[in-house]
Amino acid sequence: MPPPAALWRNAKVVTCASVADAATAGADAIVTVGGRIEWVGMESALADERRASCSAVHNLGGRLVTPGLIDCHTHLVFAGDRAAEFAERQRGVSYEEIARRGGGILSTVRATRAADEQELYEAALPRFESLLREGVLALEIKSGYGLTLEDEARMLRVARTLGARHDVVVRTSYLAAHALPPEFAGRADDYVRVLSREWLPELVRRELVDAVDIYCDRGAFSATQSRALFEAAREQGLPVRMHVGQFADVGGVQVAAEFAAVSCDHLEELAEADAQRLAAAGTVAVLLPVAYYTLGQARPPPVDLLRRAGVPIAVATDCNPGTSPCASLLLAMNMACRLFGLHAEEALAGATRYAAQALGLAPAHGSIACGANADFVVWDLAGAHELGYWTGLNRCRAAIRRGALARGAL
Ligand code: NIG
Ligand code: FE
Repeated sequence: MPPPAALWRNAKVVTCASVADAATAGADAIVTVGGRIEWVGMESALADERRASCSAVHNLGGRLVTPGLIDCHTHLVFAGDRAAEFAERQRGVSYEEIARRGGGILSTVRATRAADEQELYEAALPRFESLLREGVLALEIKSGYGLTLEDEARMLRVARTLGARHDVVVRTSYLAAHALPPEFAGRADDYVRVLSREWLPELVRRELVDAVDIYCDRGAFSATQSRALFEAAREQGLPVRMHVGQFADVGGVQVAAEFAAVSCDHLEELAEADAQRLAAAGTVAVLLPVAYYTLGQARPPPVDLLRRAGVPIAVATDCNPGTSPCASLLLAMNMACRLFGLHAEEALAGATRYAAQALGLAPAHGSIACGANADFVVWDLAGAHELGYWTGLNRCRAAIRRGALARGAL
């Protein structure tokens, strides 16, 4: 027996196949079969035969439908919080200064090392569920607060468990190169060698790693150290990505482009030639406006330069306890518009189509197209331009995952 087909009709379907397709509804009906999209278009053009094959018909009441949202950059598995540092920063102490004193990322490392797997899972769950309530159906979760083999492994297992228990696509990134742990103080090159040559192959063997990430910036790791890690990632056949240009340009983008990184993230500091490199390498620029906002940074990423160079732009929460205590992708989209000047359709394409590309999930995810997974969201909104317009108001009505209602009600 063929799998059952369903017709989802009377919708404003914004397909997000490109930035232009994230602006307006290009279709009013979708046919799904066995968890995939079999057809999308105007119902008036739907062949009788195909209509007749649909055993279920869902009338969406003229509502907006978008692809499932995708948060392509999160650190949402961690223990503790850094609210005290937030308060300190309000009194004028900088993020980099706090990190130099052994606070910052290392303070979350201490809390995360002390938490067992269940505690870590329970700590992450409210953040994860907050994203799901907004129609997020795929997301990336990084390690990077363990900084030992077993502590990194535990974070990555929790990420896998979150995805499996909630039927959400989770892609993991191995970010042991996030900060220098105290055991390796003064021996950064040694640390990079160990995390690249010893831990990475072992975590790959345990099937915990989908991509490899590094924090390449002033006060973090260098371009040379990034190269050493990326060479090891290449040997494992893994895609690479990079936190880069958040505070300073230390030459990371050149290395990332050389290794055809799937994404470069932050990019407040980006040279013109490097934008060209990203475009040529097919690398996605992942903008993280909530981190920029939280730190009160002065210079936004050069969005116009990215546009002119033709670099695909994604938007993500960067959910983490230090720079982005935020579990709302809708808020990140709003801030990308208000603080970085993205157009509404660029923000939506950045949280669907290009987020999928950054995670290696396109074209199966991130757009409503024939052959793609039937993962989409029904909104109580008049149009896609309203998604990044509201703040503090979540109008996600229902999320459909693999052709079945996963959350909410129709
Ligand atoms: O993406 N820049 C480095 N990593 C994170 C911050 C992590 C933290 O402060 O805990 C970021 O902003
Ligand atoms: Fe980050």
